[in-house]
Amino acid sequence: SHPVIAIDGPSGVGKGTLAQYLCCKTGFNLLDSGAIYRALAFGALKSNISAENLPGLVNLAENLPVKFVDTSIIYEGEDVTSKVRNEEVAAAASIVAAIPEVRAALLKRQKGFAMAPGLVADGRDMGTVVFPQAPVKIFLTASAEVRAERRVNQLKSQGVSANIVQITSDIMARDERDRTRTTSPLVPASDSVIIDTSELSINQVCDKAIDLLWK
Ligand code: C5P
Repeated sequence: SHPVIAIDGPSGVGKGTLAQYLCCKTGFNLLDSGAIYRALAFGALKSNISAENLPGLVNLAENLPVKFVDTSIIYEGEDVTSKVRNEEVAAAASIVAAIPEVRAALLKRQKGFAMAPGLVADGRDMGTVVFPQAPVKIFLTASAEVRAERRVNQLKSQGVSANIVQITSDIMARDERDRTRTTSPLVPASDSVIIDTSELSINQVCDKAIDLLWK
C-alpha cells in the first residue's frame, strides 16, 4: 500500500494550503475530501434531493458524477470549482456529511486516491477513518476568530466583500456539526501531531510539517 499523509482539522485552518505544499514537495497525489462532500451537496441541491431523502442521497453518493482534473472540480462535465466554494454549499455539505450511510457510500472512492507514489489527504476523518494506517497524521487547529479572519482576507483578495460576524458564525455552526455528529466526528487521531496555527505563518506551518516527515 502507498504512504498517506493525513491532514485533518476544522474549516479555514489552512489544511488546503498545507496539503498543496506537501504535494509539491513530495510529488504525492492530493485528495481534497471536502470537495467530494461539497460536490455531493451541490448535486443534491441541483437535483432537488433533500437531506431527508436518504435513498436518493446514498444513490447520488455511490454514483457521484464528479471528476478532479488538475485543480478543477468537474460535475457532470461542468466546471463547478468556484460554485462549490460558497458558504451555501459548505453548509449543505456539512449536513449531508453527518449522515452515516452517506459517509459509508463515499469511503471506497476516497480510499481509491491512495495511488503511487503516495497521497496527501485533506479532510476531517482522514487519520481516524479513511486512512487509519497513515504513517504521518497532522491535525491543524486555530481559534474560530483567527480562521474567520483568514477567510475574510482570502475573500477580499478575490475582490469579494465579507462580513466577519457572519463568517465567524457560519464557521462555528459548521464546526459544531462536524464535531458533534455520531459518525466520524471531527477529532484528532490518537497518533496525530497537533499543530496550533493561530500564531503561525503559512511558512512556519509548512516547515513544521516537513520536519514531521523526516522524524
Ligand atoms: O473541507 P471543506 O470545508 O471543503 O469541507 C466541507 C464540509 O464537508 C465540512 O464542513 C464537513 O462537514 C464535510 N467533510 C467531512 N469529512 C471530510 C471532509 C469534509 O465531513 N473528510
